[in-house]
Order: sequence, then C-alpha cells, then structure tokens
Amino acid sequence: MKTSIKNIKALEILDSRGNPTLRVFMELEDGTKVKSSVPSGASTGEYEAYELRDGDKNRYNGKGVLRAVENVNEIIAPALKGMDATNQLKIDKTLIELDGTKNKSKLGANAILGVSMAAVRAAAASHNLEIYQYLGGSEANRIPVPCMNILNGGEHADNSVDFQEFMAVPIGAPSFKEGLRYVAETFHTLKNILKNKGLATSVGDEGGFAPNLKSNEEAIEIIIEAIEKAGYKPGEDIAIAIDSAATSFSVNKKDKYNLKWSGIGEMNSDDLINLAGEWLKKYPIVLWEDPLAEEDWEGFKKFTAEFGDKIEVVGDDIFVTNTEFISRGIKEHTANASLIKLNQIGTVTETIEAVRLCLEHGWRAFISHRSGETCDDFLADFAVAMGTGHLKSGSASRSERLAKYNRLLEIEDELKGNSKYYWK
Ligand code: PGA
Ligand code: ZN
Repeated sequence: MKTSIKNIKALEILDSRGNPTLRVFMELEDGTKVKSSVPSGASTGEYEAYELRDGDKNRYNGKGVLRAVENVNEIIAPALKGMDATNQLKIDKTLIELDGTKNKSKLGANAILGVSMAAVRAAAASHNLEIYQYLGGSEANRIPVPCMNILNGGEHADNSVDFQEFMAVPIGAPSFKEGLRYVAETFHTLKNILKNKGLATSVGDEGGFAPNLKSNEEAIEIIIEAIEKAGYKPGEDIAIAIDSAATSFSVNKKDKYNLKWSGIGEMNSDDLINLAGEWLKKYPIVLWEDPLAEEDWEGFKKFTAEFGDKIEVVGDDIFVTNTEFISRGIKEHTANASLIKLNQIGTVTETIEAVRLCLEHGWRAFISHRSGETCDDFLADFAVAMGTGHLKSGSASRSERLAKYNRLLEIEDELKGNSKYYWK
C-alpha cells in the first residue's frame, strides 16, 4: 500500500530552552518523507503523561532523551512498519499498547507523541492535503484567536511577578491577520513603555517581557496602557487573559499558596478568589487559566461558581488533557474549559478525544503550545482542524512561537476569504 509506513527514525535535537527533545522522521512506501518535533513543559501537572529523560548527569544535566530515541528506533519502528499511516486510531492504539503503562512511562510520552504526530503529517502529505484539512475535513475554516502572552512571570521568568502569563486577546479584530497585528503592535508598544520606565525588556521562555514589577496587578495596568497607546480599546478590540499557573506557587498543591516571587507571601484559595473578583471588576479579563492549583478542586469549583458565567475558566494542570479528569470536572462544575496540550496526554487521537469531550459538554477547549518548543507548526493546523476558536503560542518574539502564528497566517490566506474568525 502506498501509505504504508516504511521507516521511522528518531533523533535527539534541542528545544527553545536548549534542552534535548525528539525529532521523529517518517517515510511511507510512496516516498512521502516528514518530520515532527516534540515540545516540553516547565510548569507541568503532576498527572501529565511521562516525559522520558535519561537521568545521566554527564549529558545535558540528566535531560538527554537518548532512551526515548532508542525506544522509537528499536521498539516502535519495527512494530509500526507496514502499518497504514492513514489509520491514526490503530497507530495510536498500538503505541498505547506497546507502552502498556497508564502514563506512558515505559516508552515515554515524548517518544510516542513524536511518532503519532509524524503519522498524521505523513498521511496528510501523502494525500496532498494540509494537516488542518486532513484532520478537520473540508469544512475546517475557523482560525483561532491568538492569545498572545506578552508578559511572563512565575516559573517562565526570573522576575517579581507570580502569575505566569498575561495575554493580549484580540477579540474585536475582523480576521486572524488583523488580530495578530493588533497584539504584535501592543507587544512593541509595551516594550517602549517598559524602556521608558527603566524596566527590563528581556523576554521569558514564551517570548513575553519579564520585568520586575511592584505588584502582579501592575502587569495588567501596564498592558492596558500598552493597548491604549497602540491605538486600541481595552475590552473591545483587545481583552486580557491570565494563566496564574497557581500550582507553581502553591505550598501543598491544594489550598495553601505562597506568592513568593512578588514577596506578597501566604494566601489561601479564598484570598485568590477574592483577588480575582477585584480584578474582574476593574479589568477586561475574558479568560482565566489555572487560577488555583491542580489539587484544589474545591477552590476551582468555587471560582467557577463565582465567575464562570462571565469568563472562561480553564483548567490546565488539573485536567492535563486527560478525559478522566475532564469528565470529573464536567460532572463537578470545576471549570468551563480545558487547556489542550498534545504532550500532556501523548497521542493525537487522545488529544482529539479530550477536545471532543469538552465541546460535547458545552465547554471550550483552549489549544496550547508548551514553554519548551521547536519550530514545528503542527499546533496551528491542529487548532484549525479542531475549530476551537482560540489558541496560545506565546508572544511576538522567538521563532518557535511565531512559527505557529505564521502558519495560521498561511492557512487564513489559503482559505481565500472562506475562513471565520471570532472569539465566541
Ligand atoms: P508549560 O507552560 O508549558 O511550562 O507547562 C504553559 C502553561 O502552563 O500553560
Ligand atoms: Zn497553564
């Protein structure tokens, strides 16, 4: 068969933080050749699928992925050879069975995901289709609103801001192309404002600025100033989204927190919920991700009960793109959206299942990159295929972030006026 898998091979490469990750090469019988690269997180959830690292302190401080590479070359490649690349369900099922563990710790979710994504890319290429068409069908035409993380804190930066991400969201733009321009201009204006205030304009892991500010709230105020100075109306043209990544400053992963980077100190779940209430009164916030830690199901539920009718409440570390946790969340009204990260669960099929579960229950699904990325642009096509209407891929700097946004520009252009762009 033309679309049978002929060869699979993995290579250890470096991600945007200079840490090892995998690039997987796949060749089909018809001569199609593709490659896919795997991202890696920093503020990871406890129950994410397992990222296999060598632990050999003599190489990359233990972060090498030669064992995962070997698992692709020695175990996965022979098992998948001859299999039809268009049968994604069977490929992913075989990968899951070959691994045999609940969290993909035997072969490594990084090894598995690289192969799973490569199969999608190879099958699409072999049919002369773009990935968004292959996965989403001919009606896939919704380009996601780019939630641009222009100010970084938490574990993604070495500054005084506790919350990890402050995103500019071009909800009022007429198209993706214009939306990207709105927020990229805001990013440049923010740089000038920071410079004029004598603040640092160096960037964090996701390409947003990482200044030392007097408070977490100043981050929002300064972004609103940037939106206005760039010529846009806060809340109308551009709104704000936050990822607290609260697990990263929780003491017990549950209901005790220490806002350590700003020096504010201890808080409990109610304090954080009250603080959010104050901010929501003052600022045009449309989405709040991980306002509480991954074990704080009660806090999440309270937060959603308070604010879930006004804003999108997204669970990242708490759901880890896993349908088991998302199902519990749906039942318990823990949130009203889930973050979606391919490498949190490890195969394309399971990621699609997580998206579908959300959408079937009236939840939103927020497609996301990782803080450690490569220039692989699979995510952009995936977001269009899923039609979920928004994605985050960092800021308007660092090519691994722009690779996804630029790919979305291509897709919108290719759809020649038949694309859709709207927030909700
Ligand atoms: P991570 O950050 O990739 O470091 O987990 C992204 C996020 O928390 O959403
Ligand atoms: Zn997050």
